[in-house]
Amino acid sequence: MTVDPQQIAVEGAAAFVAAESLAEIHELELQYLGPQSLLSGMKASFRDLEPEERKVLGSQMNAARQQLELAAQDSRSKLESAARAAQLATERVDLTETLAKATVGHSHVITQTWERLEDVFCSMGFTVADGPEVETDWFNFEALNLPPAHPARSLWDTLYLDSSQLEGLGEEQLLLRTHTSPVQIRSMLRAVRDGSGPPIYVVCPGRVYRRDTADATHLPVFHQIEGLVIDRGITMGDLAGTIESFVKAYFGDEMTSRLRPSYFPFTEPSAEFDISAADGSWLEVGGCGMVHPNVLRAGGLDPQEWSGFAFGFGIDRLAKIRYGVEDLREFVTNDVRFLSQF
Ligand code: PHE
Repeated sequence: MTVDPQQIAVEGAAAFVAAESLAEIHELELQYLGPQSLLSGMKASFRDLEPEERKVLGSQMNAARQQLELAAQDSRSKLESAARAAQLATERVDLTETLAKATVGHSHVITQTWERLEDVFCSMGFTVADGPEVETDWFNFEALNLPPAHPARSLWDTLYLDSSQLEGLGEEQLLLRTHTSPVQIRSMLRAVRDGSGPPIYVVCPGRVYRRDTADATHLPVFHQIEGLVIDRGITMGDLAGTIESFVKAYFGDEMTSRLRPSYFPFTEPSAEFDISAADGSWLEVGGCGMVHPNVLRAGGLDPQEWSGFAFGFGIDRLAKIRYGVEDLREFVTNDVRFLSQF
């Protein structure tokens, strides 16, 4: 049998290229290069050859062996690096901090409610007014027909500021406003001063403070929206109609409102306004009434010429009703699972 080393080399190299595992390469090495291989076996026939032929065949065999060794090495390193890459991929620990999901934030539910209320009242012809959260006793109480030591002051648990350290404030007692009603006075004085009114049709949403412990129905810091209408010949009927229109615009046509006699020093007569609930019961929303003559006077207006109504209610409480929230504290706990629902 004549065997051609070159042919063995070509055939073996192809086998190494096709090998799919290190074990297979090992098998091929034994087959093509091992002591039992054809190449090794050819040495036995050397002694029958002429020296010249021996030389030629010898160098052909060496070349073939070299070629096969290279092919084995090549194939082995390819398989090894593929195995290493696969291992790296499975053992990879990703330490990169990634944003789980690019979620887009949105306004807080109270802000949404606040803005919606502004929209509803603006569509009814009101403009938006504002005033400071730190108020004087005069704006928060006295001008609203609550002179010092008036017993009704106890309806508003007030946080007073120690202004003795602040120079130039005079005798003014400062406090955190307990309601948005001081903006009634500010709006009247502003309108008179710059000649823009009356008539005055304003709403004032804002933050208010009370010395209260937070529970399911109270927050020490919460939000109110105040409404003030001053014009000629304004009646209680205008007040009732405005409240009813607002309730329908905000909650929907199936909702209705009612007024219940009540007491506030700054309105006369005064009422509490309620809205109908789905189960036929009534939910108390806020206070309202005809602006008291003393309040008109404090605002620089003549009660003989002008009359008006005012109302005020809690924005947080309204959101609580609208969205069926059990506990007002949910609004300030900032739990994203709660907030993302709105
Ligand atoms: N300011 C009152 C309160 O906080 C509500 C109110 C506003 C009542 C306007 C009458 C008129 O309780």
